[in-house]
Amino acid sequence: MSLRSILTTTLLMATTASAARTLFVGSGKGTIKSYEFDETANAQGLVKELASTSESSPAPTWQTIFGDLLYSVSESGVPAEGVVTAYQIGSNRKLIKKGSAKGVAGPVSIAVGKDGKLVISASYAGGGVDMFAADGYGGLTHSQNFTYTLNKPGRVPDRQEGPHPHQAIMDPTGEYVIVPDLGADRVRVYNAKSSTTIKELESIKTPDGFGPRHAVFYPVGNAKPTHLFVVGELSNSIITFKISCAGGQLKAKEIATISTFGTQSVPTGPPAPIAAEIALSPDGKYLYVSNRGDKTQAGGTQDSIATFSVASDAKLAFMQLTPSGGLSPRHFSITRDGNWVAIANDGSGNFAIFRRYPENGTISSLPTISTVNDGSACAIWYEPKVEYS
Ligand SMILES: *[C@@H]1O[C@H](CO)[C@@H](O)[C@H](O)[C@H]1NC(C)=O
Ligand SMILES: *[C@@H]1O[C@H](CO)[C@@H](O)[C@H](O)[C@H]1NC(C)=O
Repeated sequence: MSLRSILTTTLLMATTASAARTLFVGSGKGTIKSYEFDETANAQGLVKELASTSESSPAPTWQTIFGDLLYSVSESGVPAEGVVTAYQIGSNRKLIKKGSAKGVAGPVSIAVGKDGKLVISASYAGGGVDMFAADGYGGLTHSQNFTYTLNKPGRVPDRQEGPHPHQAIMDPTGEYVIVPDLGADRVRVYNAKSSTTIKELESIKTPDGFGPRHAVFYPVGNAKPTHLFVVGELSNSIITFKISCAGGQLKAKEIATISTFGTQSVPTGPPAPIAAEIALSPDGKYLYVSNRGDKTQAGGTQDSIATFSVASDAKLAFMQLTPSGGLSPRHFSITRDGNWVAIANDGSGNFAIFRRYPENGTISSLPTISTVNDGSACAIWYEPKVEYS
């Protein structure tokens, strides 16, 4: 063994032996903070703040990581312009601003194309979708937009007075982008194959008053998707669509609907619960949805996360509701090894980290750690495949 390879091996061992994981927490109050979570420290695990940025003020309510770039929205109201900012994840997890670009007001979600050259944002307040050309180093140039109107309000007029695109999601093959539009009761579909322009296709209709917010393709991984799970914020239910992708088109057929409370009764409020995030486990065998405003947990003081098992034909079976560790769980994410779930509780402002058991999909009912943050709208794990030192 040469000295160089011994040194390289030692360095790799030093970095991979570290038990610390990174979590980025974006808040509705202006900051994106970098935290370290060390599951082995203090017997109980330890969370430590590493860095903070306010460059995505007023409201960095969503972040997406691609390689060592972190993209964040600055959510605004109308008529302010929306901003998408790219940061390089630097040493000690400091976010270094590299570029930004303006788009439709009120961006709330970002998708990145497979090669990293295409960035798409969905804007709730302004009712539109933007596309940006990305140079792969954080440079962003606005290239295209779609803005929508409604002829008449939807079934829930105070929330569906206009179109409200709520998320942008790339399909695993990188050919399609979908955008659930909460106000228009449809999932908008685009072909993004050309990677310089996106082309709108026929959208997928959801029932009146469903309020599609977020969605996830099934199965996980890079295979052609066979199904799509869409969560309806206004109906607190999940629709399963069977999908087929061929000839540049994505077609969907509704095959099942299940409550985000499973077999338990849906709290009637007021205020009524409003479902938020939906995600599959890394092995694709379990589906999770967060319920905001339900207060069904911890003696009526916390909201819930619903767990479903997913059969190979995408059939969902309700398993349990567990506490979210606070109020209004707007977002959550699961580590790649499936062992931890970080939940951003927007209402109580804290984020909570729970142990998850990959062998049976259950989430612990007590958090390992709960940390007060200045609002917690989005919590994403950063787990680089290779550490460069
Ligand atoms: C859409 O893009 C065009 C061209 O860049 C721009 O002039 C227009 O203001 C944009 N619309 C919105 C609503 O952002
Ligand atoms: C899931 O697995 C964990 C760890 O093995 C165990 O403690 C827990 O009781 C299991 N839960 C169910 C519902 O089987």
